[in-house]
Amino acid sequence: MARRSGPLTGTITVPGDKSISHRALIFGGLAAGKTRINGLLEGEDVLRTAAAMRRLGATVARDEAGQWQVTGNGVGALAEPDRVLDMGNSGTAARLLMGLVASCPFITFFSGDASLHKRPMSRVARPLEEMGALITSRSGGRFPLAITGRRLMPIDYELPVASAQVKSALLLAALDTPGITRITEPRLTRDHTENMLRHFGAEVAVTPRKEGGRVIELAGQQELTPTDIIVPGDPSSAAFVAVAAAILPGSDVTITNVGLNPLRDGLFESLKEMGADIEVMNIREEAGERAGDIRVRGSTLKGIEVPSERAPSMIDEYPVLFVAAAFAAGKTVMRGLRELRVKESDRLSTMAIGLDACGVRLEELEDGLIIEGDGTAPNGGAAVATHLDHRIAMSFLVMGMAAKNPVTVDDGRVMETSFPGFAALMRQLGGDISDGAA
Ligand code: S3P
Repeated sequence: MARRSGPLTGTITVPGDKSISHRALIFGGLAAGKTRINGLLEGEDVLRTAAAMRRLGATVARDEAGQWQVTGNGVGALAEPDRVLDMGNSGTAARLLMGLVASCPFITFFSGDASLHKRPMSRVARPLEEMGALITSRSGGRFPLAITGRRLMPIDYELPVASAQVKSALLLAALDTPGITRITEPRLTRDHTENMLRHFGAEVAVTPRKEGGRVIELAGQQELTPTDIIVPGDPSSAAFVAVAAAILPGSDVTITNVGLNPLRDGLFESLKEMGADIEVMNIREEAGERAGDIRVRGSTLKGIEVPSERAPSMIDEYPVLFVAAAFAAGKTVMRGLRELRVKESDRLSTMAIGLDACGVRLEELEDGLIIEGDGTAPNGGAAVATHLDHRIAMSFLVMGMAAKNPVTVDDGRVMETSFPGFAALMRQLGGDISDGAA
């Protein structure tokens, strides 16, 4: 439960970036030799990837200081897993690993939790089948499924959905496939896989297109060289802290070492347009990724129209942006968000139901939400169903810290998937959140 809190103040770091953490374990498990990872996110989603890489034959260890070491046997040297790979709640682990095993000469079985079993996998399965993999799934291309990996053919593929997960699955499948795989993304999506391939010494050609988007080309059967990786803080986790600080008057919070990949920073851009007081400092580059510190102070926000082209750079941040919009004066219009319906939950409908119960004026569209605030705190006072969705839980706890009445979420454990210690960290800044479901 979260109750109206005083101003948030202090300097903190947030746990490591989830996208980069998954990829660090996967590429570390492919490169022949030892890769050292500092700052790995130790959330449940990433631990699923760690466990899966172990089952696929990599050695994955953590020392007492929290550094992770992954030792692989080389591209093309994974071993057949002797059990079902349970991907839990993680769409990223599921889709990236589907791509990874598609070129391996063995059968891999996948399953996950109730949320993952509802999510579409044919967006990955179809192009992998085109490359030559055999995939048997539940109807609608859903989990559980089995992949019979084979020697694949390279593909020339234009992404029908703006999805970094699909792009990354295909790049992983291409890694041990002779010839050049070419992927066209009409709208840019996060490029952590491309950055990490380069960091491990592979060559990836990225060419911008005149009509927008870009083409990514990877020649298969390149060796990867083990390396050291420093994972920056997750901007998607920093988002919850940033919105809480922006809507709580008098707040002044600095989040150090946040990943600031330009394809991930749409939320901060949008908050600035809404009038939030956000300063980015100490920008630097580490292990092929941009990072910096962010200072956020409490401000009065105004409604804006968020350009739908910005959606891929803040796709995971809409739930908490909806909360910010509820505190802003005027209408915030957010469209082009059909993808939100197939995340850990249907985030448009789950958020609309919870916000409505908190007394927020809104209109739910097929592909977005329009939220109208009057610049004051909404009533709150709701008990919200999170549907196994970590970002729904955290968004409504942020709402509860600034609404007139406390907000309760039905399942606080789901936050462990991406942001272990969320409640404790908010309390450290002055937030009034009590643990557990209550
Ligand atoms: C991710 C990509 C995004 C995002 C997810 C992580 C990644 O999904 O929602 O949390 O690490 O590649 P899509 O690429 O499917 O939009």
